[in-house]
Amino acid sequence: MEFNSEALKAQLNNLYGSDNPDNQLMRALLSAKGDEAVTLRSFANDIKQKHLGNYVYFRGLTEFSNKCSKNCYYCGIRAGNKNVERYDVNDEDILDAVRFAHEHNYGSVVLQAGERSDKAFIDRVDSLLKIIKQISNNELGITISLGEQSYETFQRWFESGAHRYLLRIESSNKDLYYKIHPQNEKHSYEKRLQALHDLKDIGYQTGTGVMIGLPFQTRDDLVSDLNFMRNFDIDMVGMGPYIEHKDTPLYDYRDQLMPQKDRFEMTLNMISLLRILMPNINMASATALQAIDPMGREKALKAGANVIMPNVTPGMYRNDYKLYENKPCTDEEASDCVSCLEMRIGLTGNKVGYGEWGDSKHYYNRRKK
Ligand code: 5AD
Ligand code: SF4
Ligand code: FES
Repeated sequence: MEFNSEALKAQLNNLYGSDNPDNQLMRALLSAKGDEAVTLRSFANDIKQKHLGNYVYFRGLTEFSNKCSKNCYYCGIRAGNKNVERYDVNDEDILDAVRFAHEHNYGSVVLQAGERSDKAFIDRVDSLLKIIKQISNNELGITISLGEQSYETFQRWFESGAHRYLLRIESSNKDLYYKIHPQNEKHSYEKRLQALHDLKDIGYQTGTGVMIGLPFQTRDDLVSDLNFMRNFDIDMVGMGPYIEHKDTPLYDYRDQLMPQKDRFEMTLNMISLLRILMPNINMASATALQAIDPMGREKALKAGANVIMPNVTPGMYRNDYKLYENKPCTDEEASDCVSCLEMRIGLTGNKVGYGEWGDSKHYYNRRKK
C-alpha cells in the first residue's frame, strides 16, 4: 500500500497532548520504519520546536562512584559482578569536573553513582551539593541520580541544592520488573514507585524512564510505559535501548533479544511518541543510543529529545562505569567532548542553551495547576 503521510499526520494530531491516547496506534508506531518513521520523528521534532524552541541543554555528568549495593540483572556494575574495579572519585576531582562544567557554561550538572544509602554516603552527597552551589555562585543547576532513598534523605538533598532527580522505573510492568531485578526488599517495585511519589511531593523536577528492548518485554509493555509516564505527569524522561552486558544474569537471554538496530529504532519511536503525548517535558538523548549508532544521540535530538548529558567524569575512571558494553567516550577527557558535541548539535539544527538551567517547562505548568 502507498504510504499516506497526511493520514498518519492526522492520527498523530489525535495523539498530540491527548488525555486518552489510542494504545493500538501507539503500539503500531513503536515499530514504525521507513517513511512512517520519518513522519513520526519529524512530527515530534516540530512539537518540540514549537513548545521548547530549538534549544538543547547540557548536563555535565559525573559518575562519581561505581560502588553499588544492588544487583539489577541487567547492569554491569551490579554488586555481584566481581570483574569490576570499584572506584570513588575523590571530592576534589568531582569538584574539578563540576568547575569544568561551570567554566564551559554547561548550566547544570548531574551527579550519578551506584546506589548506596549508608550514612557516610548520604552525608558526603549532602556536603558536595552545598559546595557545588557555593563554588558556582548558585549558577549551576543540579540533578541527582542516586537511586531509592528515604523521604528524609531526598528532602535533605533537596534543601542542600538538588532540584531535579532521575529515577528510572526501568519497566512499569511489575511482572517484568521482577524478571529484571531480584525479588526482594532491596529491589521492590512498590518502593521504587513510592520513591517517585516522594520526589514529586518534595518538589523535585522528577524524572523517570525505561529501557527498551529488554528480554521478555513486549510492545504492549512499552505502550504501558508511555501511559505510565503520562499518568504520573512526569517532568523529565531518559529512555535508552537495553544493551546486554556479559557479566550480568540477563546475558543468558541474549539470543531472545531484538537486533540492536531494532532496539535503537524503537527507542527513537518511543522518544517521538512521548514527545507527542507530553510536549513540554525535558527528554534526554540517552548515551546508550550512541553505543549502537555513532550518530545515535543526534538522531534522538531530531526525534524529540532536548537534553544531552556530556560526561565530565575524569577520563581515568570512565572505563569502570560500564553499565553496558560499547559505552562511548570512555577513552575521552571532558575537554575532548566540548567541541565535538557543539558540532554534533549544530548538525541537528539546534543550539546549545549555554549557561541556562534548562528546567522542565512541564514542571512549572504542573505547579501552577
Ligand atoms: N543497558 C542499558 N541501560 C542500562 N542501565 C543499566 N544497565 C543497562 C544496560 N545494560 C540504565 C538503567 C539505569 C541507568 C542508570 O542505566 O536504566 O537506571
Ligand atoms: Fe546499581 Fe543502578 Fe546498576 Fe542497579 S542499575 S545495579 S542500582 S548502578
Ligand atoms: Fe565525547 Fe564526541 S561527545 S568525544
